[in-house]
Amino acid sequence: MRYIGNKTRLVPFILDVVRRLEPSVGVACDPFAGTASVSRALKRQGWTVHAGDLMAFSYALQVTHVELDRTPRFPVSALGAGEQGGRPGLSYAAILRELEGLPPAHGFISEHYSPDGLAGGRHGRMYFTPENAGLIDAIRQRIAEWRAEGLLDPARCQLLLATLVEAADRVANTTGVYASFVKSWQPNACRRLELRQLRPTSRRNGGGRCTAHRGEAAGRVAAVGTMDLLYLDPPYNERQYPAYYHIPELIASGWDDPPELRGKTGLIPDEDLRSDWCRRDRCEAALRELLGRADARHILLSYNDEGLLAPEVIADVLRETGDADSYRRTGTDYRRYRSDGDGPGRTYRRDRVREQLHYVKRP
Ligand SMILES: C[S@@+](CC[C@H](N)C(=O)[O-])C[C@H]1O[C@@H](n2cnc3c(N)ncnc32)[C@H](O)[C@@H]1O
Repeated sequence: MRYIGNKTRLVPFILDVVRRLEPSVGVACDPFAGTASVSRALKRQGWTVHAGDLMAFSYALQVTHVELDRTPRFPVSALGAGEQGGRPGLSYAAILRELEGLPPAHGFISEHYSPDGLAGGRHGRMYFTPENAGLIDAIRQRIAEWRAEGLLDPARCQLLLATLVEAADRVANTTGVYASFVKSWQPNACRRLELRQLRPTSRRNGGGRCTAHRGEAAGRVAAVGTMDLLYLDPPYNERQYPAYYHIPELIASGWDDPPELRGKTGLIPDEDLRSDWCRRDRCEAALRELLGRADARHILLSYNDEGLLAPEVIADVLRETGDADSYRRTGTDYRRYRSDGDGPGRTYRRDRVREQLHYVKRP
């Protein structure tokens, strides 16, 4: 999924740093997991990973890529097939075909995020074509029904939700984030929604059971307890994630209790999702609080060199919290994530930014 701060391209660099710090694998925590790119890479190396994030769609991705060790089969006898290919249940592929074949339905997404809906039309919201919005509604509704009927356990339900979030993202009429929609249909938005299989990461020999979590990072870290590696990748600027990803969040969390939407883009209520890490006056205290609750041998913090916290401040906080002499900082340049070009409201200072990894060891 296209995601601000996604570390997929930096994973080799991060793994390389981790290997130098700690040649053997152990327990790791990634409480700002986002797309789970780092969590799944660590799991692939044999780490026992405990991921977490505030957002519901991240939770779905974490369950898919971190908690599940293999693609499950689906015991959905309601579909009329108790067995397929001599094995009980249906394959993931068969379930996706079934979901893709549903007739479009008019639901919350059609109503609010496509020009065919009363509210969507009134605001000119063009996030999805009417056909794709109807498909998202029909698929989301069917997943909820299967779950309510007890045909899907929580993990299988999250796998299907993650699959839908990724599929919707590919046909969203945006330039990468949901803070705005494009006023004409983009080629990707005109393609029919397609559910593509996601691949859970298998557990390496010796790796323990990995877990997913939705909630505050500091609480997650405290709950995991003793760990070998704490990898922190918090937001580094004032952009609150729920304002940029409100539609994936809605698809993942559903609308049993329909939210009251705000503004031209149909933002969801986000008081519970707002992060202190995105506030200049609170982020240092948030870092101190989290570190105060962490019982970790190695602490690695990814932070952008244009972030709210100056590198010198991070260095001071880490030195205070660990073995001061072990503090190190290393960095790599990479192309900036751009969801849109420079415009009157936004002029990037430079095209490349430096991602820094701050490290401290605890005695
Ligand atoms: C820079 S992104 C992480 C990107 C991730 N490493 C990846 O590769 O996709 C920061 C993440 O922190 C999450 N977040 C922000 N504040 C949080 C908090 N207080 N507790 C937990 N997660 C938080 C956001 O939802 C976002 O997914």
